[in-house]
Amino acid sequence: MRHLMSPLDFSVEELENMMDLAAEIEKDPDRFAHICDRKKLATLFYEPSTRTRLSFETAMLNLGGQIIGFSSADSSSAAKGESVADTIRVISIFADIAAMRHPKEGAPLVASLHSEIPVINAGDGGHQHPTQTLTDLHTIRSLKGSIGNMTIGLCGDLKFGRTVHSLITALIRYPNIKFILISPEELRLPSYIKDDVLIRNNIEFEEVIRLEEALPHLDLLYMTRVQRERFFNEEDYIRMKDFYILDREKMKLAPEHMYVLHPLPRVNEIAVDVDKDPRAAYFKQVEYGMYIREALILTLLDMKLPD
Ligand code: NCD
Repeated sequence: MRHLMSPLDFSVEELENMMDLAAEIEKDPDRFAHICDRKKLATLFYEPSTRTRLSFETAMLNLGGQIIGFSSADSSSAAKGESVADTIRVISIFADIAAMRHPKEGAPLVASLHSEIPVINAGDGGHQHPTQTLTDLHTIRSLKGSIGNMTIGLCGDLKFGRTVHSLITALIRYPNIKFILISPEELRLPSYIKDDVLIRNNIEFEEVIRLEEALPHLDLLYMTRVQRERFFNEEDYIRMKDFYILDREKMKLAPEHMYVLHPLPRVNEIAVDVDKDPRAAYFKQVEYGMYIREALILTLLDMKLPD
């Protein structure tokens, strides 16, 4: 039995197969509409989410399966003091696969150690968010044809943004990727990613503060929101929250081929006037996220695919 805790749990080749499957699902969804009949997905969300939870649930429904779960810690037995280990033991009796989001780093990993069913990490604190990374990789591959040979700008809250941590970890396995890390001093990439992932693997990167400086050099821009819920005090958040605002004017500095991605939710960091720009790909990214989650569920459940 396999779980998904980190984007590195699958080899590059396995990810390619999963992305091929996601593309097939997109092309002909009806072929996959009953493949998970009578299978159940449990979404165990101890932290707020719109996209990720609903994307998982829609993915399972699209495959003919059913869903159970909770969307906040208050509405689960966690409020009574139940451990994650006990919760997953119980859920293993009810469901065939589980997706867990938790504010504590490592909670889904603990769950996986006590689980009888595949567990997917749907975001653990400021640590990792591997299914967002699968979404991002699939989006890049679908838009650009392949992953590699590109300069990627990562902008915003690189300190607390788990999507960025997962994405960097996954991208360094592809050829000739360079990073420009765009953040205020206080929100720079933590050393467990900068030293242990980038420097250790000799990956080319640069740290800059101004978005305008980076824009002309990018093949892809990944914007992120300042993660309010992970700040220790509100004053620091208020000081940081509008540090970057990508708008139509700034988009003029970027190459014609530079797509803009964002894991969403957006707050102020991308002005709505950018949405109409053909390079704005963040809503299409949500759609790719649903297909890749379908492919992930099929892979982890080891389902026999239709001919
Ligand atoms: C991200 C997350 O939860 O980390 N959202 C998502 O899953 N699409 C990004 C964020 O909350 O800023």
